[in-house]
Amino acid sequence: MKKLIIINGPNLNLLGKRETNIYGNMTFTEFYDSVVHKYANVDLEYFQSNIEGELIDKIQEVGFNYDGIVLNAAAYTHTSVGIGDAVKAITTPVVEVHISNTFSREDFRHQSYISPNAKGVILGFGLQSYELAIESFLNE
Ligand code: DQA
Repeated sequence: MKKLIIINGPNLNLLGKRETNIYGNMTFTEFYDSVVHKYANVDLEYFQSNIEGELIDKIQEVGFNYDGIVLNAAAYTHTSVGIGDAVKAITTPVVEVHISNTFSREDFRHQSYISPNAKGVILGFGLQSYELAIESFLNE
């Protein structure tokens, strides 16, 4: 059984009430429950933090013994050399995901410190981006 973790960065705990025109009406808890049900063949975990260092700690903790990380670093994607370095430091492959198409938004969202060291990037498919990332690990 593949051991995967979804790691979400800042403000993603507000999904369902935050900018619903961009991020939709579903809470992440509701979505995660459906994902756990759908991918019963996956040993799946979920971690969210609004704090950059906690995200780095979690990436380090899982980064040498899990089969994959699905990472939405949210706003830190565009700012955090530290999270980028953590992704580079570990051996577990990371798929970067975004709910929105960051390239159709403000210029500052076009920069990612994660992408250069990610296995791949999936963005713009709403919450389905997470499912596509999980499936990428199952199909390898
Ligand atoms: C996001 C895109 C980021 O630019 C933004 O800061 C987020 C969410 C997304 O999933 O679309 O918080 O990562």
